[in-house]
Amino acid sequence: MSRYSRIIGWGMYVPERVLTNEELSRMVDTSDEWIRTRTGIRERRIVNGPSETTATLAERAARAALDKAGLPATALDMIIVSTSSPEHLFPATACIVQDALGATRAGAYDLSAACSGFVYALAMAHGLIVSEQADTVMVIGAETLSRLVNWQDRNTCVLFGDGAGAIILQASETPGGVLATVLGSDGSGAHLLSLPAGGSRKPPSFETLRNGDHYIHMDGKAVFRFATRVMAEATREVVEKAGLTLDDIALIIPHQANIRIIETSVVRQLHFPWERVFVNLDRYGNTSTASIPIALTEAVEAGRLQPGDYAVLVGFGAGLTWAAALIQWGPEVPEVTWWQRLWWHVLWYRWSRLRSLYRRVRRRVFAFYFRGREQVEQWRFTSPPSPDGKEKQGEE
Ligand code: UT7
Repeated sequence: MSRYSRIIGWGMYVPERVLTNEELSRMVDTSDEWIRTRTGIRERRIVNGPSETTATLAERAARAALDKAGLPATALDMIIVSTSSPEHLFPATACIVQDALGATRAGAYDLSAACSGFVYALAMAHGLIVSEQADTVMVIGAETLSRLVNWQDRNTCVLFGDGAGAIILQASETPGGVLATVLGSDGSGAHLLSLPAGGSRKPPSFETLRNGDHYIHMDGKAVFRFATRVMAEATREVVEKAGLTLDDIALIIPHQANIRIIETSVVRQLHFPWERVFVNLDRYGNTSTASIPIALTEAVEAGRLQPGDYAVLVGFGAGLTWAAALIQWGPEVPEVTWWQRLWWHVLWYRWSRLRSLYRRVRRRVFAFYFRGREQVEQWRFTSPPSPDGKEKQGEE
């Protein structure tokens, strides 16, 4: 019996704070006209204050996807968070989301493939399901790139926005869902789009701060040329792999980076009609790995995808990477009932927070009892600098 992976839930979340081109033109030497004509972007959403982070956006999108699927968080076997702006280098943002959702049965890990990351993660989730390692997998694309851009660099700060999108894939015996994927990379172009400092190669120092190496650096023109080539190639390849033709495709959902990239690659090179391409970058800018799941959610909500329709999700990004997936949209899934919503939102998610707090406190108490107060202090996530100037070696 063949096993398929079908999308049974989808959701998105973007911060409330809108940053318009007009506002940006008061911050850097740019104009609404330049940004609109060169990129297609009119405004973007950005996180507001320390309480909004990549994990909180991801959690909101994940909850919306669970609602849509009518599933409790405990049904998830795996959570994959694709992001280039994780909460920390480690632990994985996915673990923080797992804890917040109360997804007590789920494994969790982050995936880093920049703007192609969501489609990479979708391919990984599909692989887990068809190889019978998991039945239900949450795939999230989430970013807070506003925290990584240099707000004085007009080459990059006008492009990016924050947001999150999520889908739930589930095993099924009915044909459909993810039918083919194409994943590619070319590390010779790694320097074209990067965050040079903060990793093990260039740990943070006064020098990296002075040089602005902890901000996104990009050769926009080179990335543009690469994008227009690979988007068309990856789309053609994935359609062929699924045994279909472009005429069979109801909708292409491209990575929302720049309207000119979409126009050149999808519309001109593939001769694909505009009416069957989904675009929302005018409202959100480039949300990197979150752009495709956000666009997918909006496309479904707008009725642009009907059961049985074939769609291509295609992206490109830092790495350099590219990725495409061909999906067949599944049957409608029942919306969650009011009492399920009440149980999950009012009780389960709150209970999960309490449960998490209880586990943290319990760990501290055990540590205090078995190892003494001094070591408990070392368990703080951001340990205070030691008074004697020596590094503390904390572990949990
Ligand atoms: O998810 C992947 C992320 N990256 C991308 O998708 C980036 C792909 N690349 C692009 O989208 C485009 O290359 C950009 C939108 C970044 C730039 O557009 P472009 O048409 O390639 O412009 P350019 O870099 O050739 O710059 C043209 C001019 C330059 O001035 P001069 O040298 O001709 O006098 C820039 O300094 O535009 C200037 N410029 C700006 N002017 C006003 C660059 N950025 C701005 C700006 N506002 N924000």
